[in-house]
Amino acid sequence: MLLLFFSYIPANKSRKSTSSSKRMSKVESEISSQSGTIPFMPKDIEDFRLMSGYGHIQIFTYNELSTATKGFRPDLVIGEGGFGFVYKGVIDELVRPGFPETHVAVKELNCDSLQGDKEWLTEVNFLGQFKHKNLVKLVGYCCENEHRLLVYEYMASGSLDKHLFSRMYPAPQWSTRMKIALDAARGIAFLHAAERPLIYRDLKTSNILLDEEFNAKISDFGLAKEGPTGEKSHVSTRVMGTYGYAAPEYLNAGHLSTRSDVYGFGVLLIEILIGRRALDKARPEREQNLVDWGRPLLIRPSRLVKVIDPRLEAQFSTTCAEMVGKLTYDCLNQNPKARPTMAQVVQTLQTIVNSCKDIEILRLEASNADVSISSKR
Ligand SMILES: Nc1ncnc2c1ncn2[C@@H]1O[C@H](COP(=O)(O)OP(=O)(O)OP(=O)(O)O)[C@@H](O)[C@H]1O
Ligand SMILES: [Mg+2]
Repeated sequence: MLLLFFSYIPANKSRKSTSSSKRMSKVESEISSQSGTIPFMPKDIEDFRLMSGYGHIQIFTYNELSTATKGFRPDLVIGEGGFGFVYKGVIDELVRPGFPETHVAVKELNCDSLQGDKEWLTEVNFLGQFKHKNLVKLVGYCCENEHRLLVYEYMASGSLDKHLFSRMYPAPQWSTRMKIALDAARGIAFLHAAERPLIYRDLKTSNILLDEEFNAKISDFGLAKEGPTGEKSHVSTRVMGTYGYAAPEYLNAGHLSTRSDVYGFGVLLIEILIGRRALDKARPEREQNLVDWGRPLLIRPSRLVKVIDPRLEAQFSTTCAEMVGKLTYDCLNQNPKARPTMAQVVQTLQTIVNSCKDIEILRLEASNADVSISSKR
């Protein structure tokens, strides 16, 4: 999927977009900059080159990555984002003697710009320091001359957007969707729980990657930003991210906080629940913005069950749908302080997943009992 990234594309260059969600940069310059930097955060590529690296993260040459992707063969392209193509590859003996065979996704940045470099650096830096089962693993990188590449663990089932919105894939089941939501929430909650919270800023279905068992991991840390320190509730910064996912206080005033991620998570949840994209120009006008149209329905049980993704049919109980609806509604509150924290979201989702399992078991037992009563008659 290719997304526009307006903030660093020169005005005379345009990029096509095949996606309904678009990158944005509403405000051209920083509203104000935040004092204090991340420990170990290199200020630019030159600074970065002087560093000794990130221990467990491999530094690859361009040649090695060319071998890993068979010369960046077009049929090995597995995706395309705002920065360029993503290739499937293998790091093995041929690439580097003694390296255990590892399936990887290689992302090559095609943009020769300061902003591109900055995001590449942010991604390497944060993924180089954070490790969690719900964050995609960075295997290594290449920073040779003008080449900027990132090498990630290969996520065999690709991104969530394909499964939710492409008719080429079977629609994920209710229980799978809840598990994916819980995994994503855990990844974000982990970032928020750091000594100085990290705001992820880029929640969207294409950034949730799935392994072969549909375990979900967050990817793309290029827009991540340190949260406020002390008593401050937010940092002020220019608006970047993807249309449809940005919280109102961030969009309107550039106020970014961990609660902005909670809003983005709310958008993700409503997409998972209703099975529609956050923005969809193909729908009737009043339904094009999913949050505007759908949020009021989330707390009206009789309306909610009618708008839940029809492909889910009878896979969920009304009680479970109501619980998810209420959580989504709260995450999408206009007032950031009224939104739950990400830790609370994890707790609520965990409760929903557990109690819905119990409800499902009771429902199954009841329907089995019905079957055996009617067969005895
Ligand atoms: N580690 C990975 N394993 C498997 N597939 C991946 C991996 N990383 C990316 N992809 C695939 O490549 C696609 C493009 O990813 P990329 O992050 O470049 O763009 P995007 O998320 O669609 O858009 P944006 O540029 O706005 O982030 C993803 O949607 C996914 O299908
Ligand atoms: Mg992405």
